[in-house]
Amino acid sequence: MKRSAQLCVRPGRRLAASGALLTLTLLLFRPLPLVAQVDLTGFWVLRIPTGDGNYRETFLDLKQSGENVTGKILPGFREFPITEGTFSAGKLHLVVASRFGGQERRVTYEGSVADGKISMTVNFPGREPLTGVAERTRPEAALPPPRLPLPSLHDVPDNGLARTPPMGWNSWNKFAGKVDDAVVRGVADAMVDTGMKAAGYIYINIDDTWQGQRDSQGNITANRKFPDMRALAEYVHSKGLKIGIYSSPGPKTCAGYEGSYGHEDQDAKTFADWGFDYLKYDWCSAGRIYKDEDTQAVYQKMGDALLKAGRPIVYGLCQYGREDVWNWGTKVGGNLWRTTGDISDHWKSMEEIGFRQFAIAAYARPGHWNDPDMLEVGNGGMSNDEYRTHMALWSLLAAPLLAGNDLRAMSDETKAILMNREVIAIDQDPDAKPVKKILEQGSTVIAARPLSDNSMAVAIFNRGEAAATIAVRWADLGLQGSPAVRDLWAHKDLGTIADQFSAGVPPHGVVLIKVNH
Ligand code: GLA
Repeated sequence: MKRSAQLCVRPGRRLAASGALLTLTLLLFRPLPLVAQVDLTGFWVLRIPTGDGNYRETFLDLKQSGENVTGKILPGFREFPITEGTFSAGKLHLVVASRFGGQERRVTYEGSVADGKISMTVNFPGREPLTGVAERTRPEAALPPPRLPLPSLHDVPDNGLARTPPMGWNSWNKFAGKVDDAVVRGVADAMVDTGMKAAGYIYINIDDTWQGQRDSQGNITANRKFPDMRALAEYVHSKGLKIGIYSSPGPKTCAGYEGSYGHEDQDAKTFADWGFDYLKYDWCSAGRIYKDEDTQAVYQKMGDALLKAGRPIVYGLCQYGREDVWNWGTKVGGNLWRTTGDISDHWKSMEEIGFRQFAIAAYARPGHWNDPDMLEVGNGGMSNDEYRTHMALWSLLAAPLLAGNDLRAMSDETKAILMNREVIAIDQDPDAKPVKKILEQGSTVIAARPLSDNSMAVAIFNRGEAAATIAVRWADLGLQGSPAVRDLWAHKDLGTIADQFSAGVPPHGVVLIKVNH
């Protein structure tokens, strides 16, 4: 309770002057109750130890009014308004609900306030909670560095890589901040031992959280999870595989680690020198420095830097599909570009992303691919029918196939989905002709993609909650006569079939056939 509230005197009541003075004196010098509600208004920095000797910083700009808390959260890469906030009995509860590349995202911050500090737990959807302590700081501490000039636009020459959609593995979906040298080596071993390499998966990509500090010359170093990047790259190469790395055009990555801002040429050289073959370049904190319309020039800068570095490096753009990246991704030297926010290991996330991609399918060309984000197959949050839908959809879309699971521990079903050669062949078809949505009716979607051997891949998707028998008429696909049909999940020739093909499709499942006419 505030002192001023206790000083109010009921109107109309007369007090003797000496009595009033005594009351006033007693009230003014009365000790505050021990559990007095603190006012959290102001700037705070939340430091979350990353377990590798560093911590990530998130700034909180709080405004408290009674038990209500408003303001914004600056997790190093963007500003998010607090959408729900309360502070009561020493407990702070904040929610940031936002849309990230078209996807809903709800992050909660739960804090206990004591001794002028806030002990906090941050809950990201589908991730392990992070904990840290927030202390008061000056608002200037949250300001990004000044904006550096950008080059004028030109076309970066094609690097000649990724003639078919890149295939490999990426650490983020399964390991997030828990990726380290041992995981990467183990996954590289498993890539070979499980037959994934033989099926076409080549890139072993380290995502965010590998970075340490810059040395006195400004060279980026790896943190203690990665004691020797060059040796690690050599190890991965010794298995006949390629290795990828991750950075951001901003000063900080999305997980709050060191980005390439102002060090683009230097970092491209370092990555080449360590022996890396692939870079995922993630917008993150660049949004606090540049405007949206600067995006092309920002990505061009790294496209040029990679070419100058003199090693063939696949260039993956990650800015969640903003600014219609499919119109200019090729011009900045991009081999692939993310078209959406982050996928998570749930049916709703995967189907929302996957079925939204048909409209831009025609922008994918050899060397330059739409990337609807990495695979979740085998991570456990979806049924095998749902994972088959995921794999079939990504393959029809000619999406990069970057497995996001733990390759060291795969079930037979997961292996059968990820290594279905007939499905992979659709993804990798050299003609890269775009998939077309043939029909959408209720929860049924029928899609078809012409292949280089003059056959056609046809998928019958059931997005509904109940099994359904669904027919596709050859006439709707522009086919005549009785083409030969092969079921690509059952690996079975179904013979020649006249007029139409009809199949029972499980809920959230797909029947995928190849039609030869
Ligand atoms: C962003 C990207 C993800 C992943 C994380 C790492 O969210 O979209 O794919 O790279 O950053 O912090």
